[in-house]
Amino acid sequence: MLHKNLLSAIGNTPLVKVNFESPSTLYAKLEYLNPGGSVKDRSALYMIEEAEKNGTLKPGGTLIDASSGNQGIATAMIGAIKGYKVIITIFEKASQEKYQTLKAYGATVVKCPATALMDDPLSYHSQAVALHKNTPNSFMPNQYYNPSNAVAHYSSLGPEIWKQTEGKITHFFAAAGTGGTISGVGKYLKEQNPAIKVIAIDSIHSFHATNGNPKPYKLEGVGIDFISPVLNKSVIDEIIPVSDEDALGILKPMANQHGLLIGISSGAVAHVVKEYAKTMNSTDCGVMIFGDSGRAYLTKGFYD
Ligand SMILES: Cc1ncc(COP(=O)(O)O)c(C=O)c1O
Repeated sequence: MLHKNLLSAIGNTPLVKVNFESPSTLYAKLEYLNPGGSVKDRSALYMIEEAEKNGTLKPGGTLIDASSGNQGIATAMIGAIKGYKVIITIFEKASQEKYQTLKAYGATVVKCPATALMDDPLSYHSQAVALHKNTPNSFMPNQYYNPSNAVAHYSSLGPEIWKQTEGKITHFFAAAGTGGTISGVGKYLKEQNPAIKVIAIDSIHSFHATNGNPKPYKLEGVGIDFISPVLNKSVIDEIIPVSDEDALGILKPMANQHGLLIGISSGAVAHVVKEYAKTMNSTDCGVMIFGDSGRAYLTKGFYD
């Protein structure tokens, strides 16, 4: 298939069988094969094009967002293609690779402390809001508070999974950060078949998992760190918290036993699915999201 530009190459990622010990059939949706390297290409493109359509984003404008890395990378890539300036705030724990990738796409990157609370004035979210206020003709997709983040996944990722599994999917697993992926896909799948189980993966130390008493954790791209208006709990059956050790411990075996060089959030998902799948039966079909690649974290030493 010929693409008129890189943006139309976003989506339609492969769904690949993963051989975990289980009577069920399990597939991974390789979102790291999107052009910007993550699931966030979908939400960034949707929110930017929506703002273009409704006139919030004008030619010559500046895109500003807070990101654990990937939303920023997608925004920076899209900004480069469409000719917008881009400013991204990220927390200090984001990998060097993500930081360097943002710079390569030409974004201005502001590193912010990894605060426990999102509404801390120093947090990457608060700093993005302040930059947006002070930058004329700027648009902030605001992935943490913009419901269109979930609508993006409702309109592309959900239908793809339904079609690729020919409606056979019984369980859906995805990491929750903003909650956009799990909520958008979850809503779409439940509308097709309300019996499908939708399972979100969180960090054991997140704001959500600790009832508002978060602790620092190593995971990136997974962890519900605020009361998210994007997270639609009505379409989620379970939220399973994962430790740093469990999520990071599976990364190397996933690469050297399965050939899947996956990133940190995918490690959290893989760990949960591996355990959960022991309880599934032979007619079950599980789909897990692998949101980005291990190449974004190689210098962190998790794969040594
Ligand atoms: C690699 C990766 N996986 C999963 C997520 C979580 O997705 P969502 O924000 O849609 O909940 C993110 C978010 O940044 C991510 O970068």
